[in-house]
Amino acid sequence: MDVRNKVIAITGAGQGLGLTMAKSLSTRGAKLALIDLDQERLDDAVRQCESAGAQICSYIANVADETQVVTLFNKISEDFGALNGLINNAGVLRDSMLVKAKDGHVTGKMSLSAWQTVIDVNLTGVFLCGREAAAAMIELNCEGVIINISSVSRAGNVGQSNYSAAKAGVAAMTVTWARELARHNIRCMAIAPGFIGTEMVASMKPEALEKMASQIPLGRIGEQEDISSTAAFIFENDYLTGRVIETDGGIRI
Ligand code: CAA
Repeated sequence: MDVRNKVIAITGAGQGLGLTMAKSLSTRGAKLALIDLDQERLDDAVRQCESAGAQICSYIANVADETQVVTLFNKISEDFGALNGLINNAGVLRDSMLVKAKDGHVTGKMSLSAWQTVIDVNLTGVFLCGREAAAAMIELNCEGVIINISSVSRAGNVGQSNYSAAKAGVAAMTVTWARELARHNIRCMAIAPGFIGTEMVASMKPEALEKMASQIPLGRIGEQEDISSTAAFIFENDYLTGRVIETDGGIRI
């Protein structure tokens, strides 16, 4: 797909990887629907993308709320009259050990709310946005590409029962959707970033981050542009579907 003048929706576009992918796609001439929870961040994101000249609209929506997501994609369809891409990027972190123990006694557990918040946003949010985007692409008779942001953590990372489960689910949904949606001219791919220089990774315990960073074969934390260039490659290559591209400097956790 040539992204010039194509309409691409990005969740979590107000900061981090979402914003970097938005900027990269705007310089390539894409029209963008930027989705986030924070109006100020969205306004700033629109300003940063608009300079490239294509149409950019912003939308406040909680990806974990079905009614809001249905309304969101109806509005995007109305505003642009087309939808060719979705990057399911919005995600949150609530790291905690499953159980913590000292001297044979349990001192802490991952709370149900830490579990549920991450599953709601990182898994249910991807499901809802993917479903509504696919429906819109079909109704509008548009060629489409859905990119889900999974993670190296999908293999199972200490302290991330919730996040790892969600990101493994996202990788599995990617394959399912690729198989279901190919007949509608929609491709579906995932990117599994490793440890990338974002606020999310910066929020890790310094000793945990240091330990992870020391295990990256390429010897550095990834740059956000390493992910945006992967997304651009996925849009451009029409023979990619149903696969997870691991942009992670070679780390295995
Ligand atoms: N393997 C085995 N044991 C480990 C361990 C590991 N990797 N990490 C910690 N432990 C042990 C600790 O040594 C400690 O043992 P003791 O009780 O015997 O001292 C025990 O587990 C508890 O660990 P903490 O003291 O660290 O517990 P905490 O409650 O203070 O913190 C935590 C828990 C928040 C999960 C913290 O360990 C942490 O931040 N871990 C890193 C989690 C991580 O990798 N997150 C990635 C975030 S970025 C991201 O997710 C983006 C992406 O897509 C990649």
